[in-house]
Amino acid sequence: MTSEEYYELILPYQDAMNLLLSRLDVLNHSIYQNASCKPVHTVYSRIKKHKSLDGKLNRLNRDPTPANAREYLQDIAGVRVICYFEQDAYQMIDALKRQNDLIVVNEKDYILHPKPNGYRSYHIILGIPVRYMDVTEYYPVEIQVRTLSMDFWASMEHRINYKQNRPDKEQIQAQLLKYADILKDMEQSFETYNENRPK
Ligand code: GTP
Ligand code: MG
Repeated sequence: MTSEEYYELILPYQDAMNLLLSRLDVLNHSIYQNASCKPVHTVYSRIKKHKSLDGKLNRLNRDPTPANAREYLQDIAGVRVICYFEQDAYQMIDALKRQNDLIVVNEKDYILHPKPNGYRSYHIILGIPVRYMDVTEYYPVEIQVRTLSMDFWASMEHRINYKQNRPDKEQIQAQLLKYADILKDMEQSFETYNENRPK
């Protein structure tokens, strides 16, 4: 697609993402009784770049057209919510799912069921209603909810390993699995000191 087509395509996804970011902000200071103990450490957001959008459609064997992007890509808008504890992550997910005007398009609990490589995160694709002058349209936003320790692991793994070929790959993979376990244990130890209680 052309640059013009790309910029026109992403506009409503940007709108949907901004609306979701505001909701996350509200939830972050209203979930717990003690408003100063917030569940979220950081929120990252991004719109898929023109190049990676075309690249992903190519991998899916689809022509890189705006229509195909709308039909086959659900991660044009992506938000990553980094929480302190696992309990915080599930509180946020639960709160999002209870917002009854949002549509759950798809969800995968890689926290309870980690990927074989040790990757953990909760992935949920939400349809966000965007109200324009006379119509309401839903746009998908992919949300990855994880803890600080899950994010540390995923960032390192991505840097070292994700979609790369290297000779010592198997050894690294075994080590990464071990680190995932160690991080999980460490985080659970920290969680025993957590005094946050949901409202
Ligand atoms: P994609 O084609 O990459 O979108 O995969 P998918 O459609 O099967 O979705 P999935 O929910 O498995 O993964 C989507 C996103 O989660 C990826 O783009 C990454 O950001 C993240 N992710 C998934 N698996 C891994 C992993 O093993 N390591 C890391 N670092 N990130 C991962
Ligand atoms: Mg994806």
